[in-house]
Amino acid sequence: MTIDQTAVFTLGAQALADIDILAASRLPPLYLGPLQQAYRVHDRLHETDPAAFDAVAPRIRAIAASGESKVPASLIERLPALEIVSVMGVGYDGVDVAAAKARGVTVTHTPDVLNDEVADTTLGLMLCAARQLPAADRFVRAGEWTQGPMPLQRKMSGARLGIVGMGRIGKAIAHRAEAFGMHIAYTARSAKADLPYRFVATPVELAADSDFLVVITPGGAATRKLIDAAVLKALGPKGILVNVARGSVVDESALIEALESGSLGGAALDVFENEPHVPDRLKALPHVVLAPHIGSATRETRQAMADLALGNLRAQFAGQPLLTPTPEYRR
Ligand code: 8YV
Repeated sequence: MTIDQTAVFTLGAQALADIDILAASRLPPLYLGPLQQAYRVHDRLHETDPAAFDAVAPRIRAIAASGESKVPASLIERLPALEIVSVMGVGYDGVDVAAAKARGVTVTHTPDVLNDEVADTTLGLMLCAARQLPAADRFVRAGEWTQGPMPLQRKMSGARLGIVGMGRIGKAIAHRAEAFGMHIAYTARSAKADLPYRFVATPVELAADSDFLVVITPGGAATRKLIDAAVLKALGPKGILVNVARGSVVDESALIEALESGSLGGAALDVFENEPHVPDRLKALPHVVLAPHIGSATRETRQAMADLALGNLRAQFAGQPLLTPTPEYRR
């Protein structure tokens, strides 16, 4: 069968809506691909070609972003036709929501569809840190087993788990930890009456009473360096810190110092202050488990996130109610 190239081209051209979208940063292909098929996408043009960006800026109606994208007020100001910022991610701390709101621009994100995935990753990281599974893999590959057994590690079942941030993902983590017989406590802005877990007022108090401290609170100014030297000290030489939130929530220098000095037992980190750059001092610590921000990174979950981010854009351009605006826009 021969393919009629003209027909394919025509079909493609017809499918492209007369709408300009700016991709704010490198987007996952599951989001960028369908976007490029449906709209005129200017992929990071504000960074790569400022002159060309100046020319299209007045036409841009939407910003497509990921959880890591930066959408500051200065960018929003340059886009007079901007209607929506659609973030593929539950976190949107890189978006200046106040500036968007002041301009009548809506911000949407992708909550809920990733709760299971991030919670699964968290339990995996906890087990990796407690039982040193990545080190066990390295031990076998390096042939060290033939010289004797690997050092004994620590038990996770029945241990005390402190969760910093008890939102949708925090609850999914707690639910899984129950199956491990863990003693669960949490800190959040306020106690949640409907939860069977113990509420603790501050991260320091929670850390002092935890074997594992899991950080799953939103990023942004309100939580910057919430996990500081005092919290890490309270967690102590046997404590394990797990960060699946944002790098900004943990004071990374204090963390490195605590791990190097042994005043903190261990850590499993999926997020970092300056991703994708990870400090060499962290990489040098063999008992620290490092992951490249993969909390939600399965095909299934990223597809669901991309579908939701695209659905929000489609709804906006069709004049329909948005599927998942951020809490700032919900009444
Ligand atoms: C992704 C995330 O890193 O949802 C979030 O807030 O951090 C992520 O799951 C990313 O936003 C995928 O686009």
